[in-house]
Amino acid sequence: MEQTFIMIKPDGVQRGLVGEIIARFEKKGFTLKGLKLVSVERSFAEKHYADLSAKPFFNGLVEYIISGPVIAMVWEGKKVVLTGRKIIGATNPADSAPGTIRGDFAIDIGRNVIHGSDSVESARKEIALWFPEGVVGWQTSLQ
Ligand code: CMP
Repeated sequence: MEQTFIMIKPDGVQRGLVGEIIARFEKKGFTLKGLKLVSVERSFAEKHYADLSAKPFFNGLVEYIISGPVIAMVWEGKKVVLTGRKIIGATNPADSAPGTIRGDFAIDIGRNVIHGSDSVESARKEIALWFPEGVVGWQTSLQ
């Protein structure tokens, strides 16, 4: 079954949007397979966004992601990568439709509340990076 990596960024956590965002994925019918509240080191944020390292906004993006704890999640379901991106809305909140997470809760591309994997391949890499301990189904249970 397809899985995607979803991160609620520091602004989303600080603004108290965690419950609202989780509810949208749950109500759509997706299954939560992994979740943790974590702070990330600069080097880890740089690894997550390595593909963007040449962009002029890269340093600001890394500063933003390490500015407070984030919620890292794995969601599972049919076409969850593409559908997850639709639930999230366009990267620039100026272009994201009302009814999407960014369309409803963001106005600034530099503070756009949430990240979702952009392909099945990115999802596989991001889940491996953020959940090296595994997610429900392929880790051992607490004993
Ligand atoms: P995300 O979905 O996490 O993927 C890459 C991130 O880079 C994006 O959301 C934004 O947070 C950020 N980003 C993309 N374009 C810009 C930009 N022009 N200025 C600032 N941040 C950007």
